[in-house]
Amino acid sequence: MIPNSPWVRTERLELRRWAPEHLEGLRALAALPEVVRYVGDGTPWDDATVAAKHEAALEHWRRSGFGWLAVHDASGAFVGLVSVNERSVGESGIGVPAVEIGYWVAPAAWGRGYGTEAAGAVVDELFARGLAERLVARHDRANTASGRLLGKLGFVPHHAVDALVYSVLERPAG
Ligand SMILES: CC(C)(COP(=O)(O)OP(=O)(O)OC[C@H]1O[C@@H](n2cnc3c(N)ncnc32)[C@H](O)[C@@H]1OP(=O)(O)O)[C@@H](O)C(=O)NCCC(=O)NCCS
Repeated sequence: MIPNSPWVRTERLELRRWAPEHLEGLRALAALPEVVRYVGDGTPWDDATVAAKHEAALEHWRRSGFGWLAVHDASGAFVGLVSVNERSVGESGIGVPAVEIGYWVAPAAWGRGYGTEAAGAVVDELFARGLAERLVARHDRANTASGRLLGKLGFVPHHAVDALVYSVLERPAG
């Protein structure tokens, strides 16, 4: 890959390999209650958590050659992320290996279709590049934006653990 060239481009967005420069963007988003409301225990991330997630994202890229993507708009501003993590049989929550995706968009940019555009491009690219046979995503039932986004991308609910819904998308045949 050419350094700094986007991993994938969409009509309005560039998705770039997660890099050290994205730490501050992650810290800013993870500090917002409305962003983390349905993530983990629903509380903003402390510095140690931000650093650990960031480092894990960098390590995933080094280990697997793909991973988290930073979402940049046409002006080049960081406006969100798509998390991408390989999950083993024991980790996926669905009893088979899968690649798990998640997505955050900065609240100022919500409702413009960025989340669907970014996550959809990542889904297409993971399958097209042969990086995943099956995707899994987890969302809180009350997180209607997330549920709708997954539905639009073709994810199908698999099972739920309390309010946490696991949804799956299999690689299209052919
Ligand atoms: C989930 C999230 C990424 C959606 O981003 P977005 O760019 O606003 O999404 P889109 O504009 O592509 O819209 C996706 C769907 O959600 C709906 N939606 C957007 N904001 C919404 C809101 N505040 N309440 C209800 N639905 C909403 C949209 O209408 C759209 O559905 P539709 O096409 O059927 O109308 C964004 O809300 C977010 O970052 N939330 C915080 C982080 C998070 O919860 N991530 C998911 C963890 S599982």
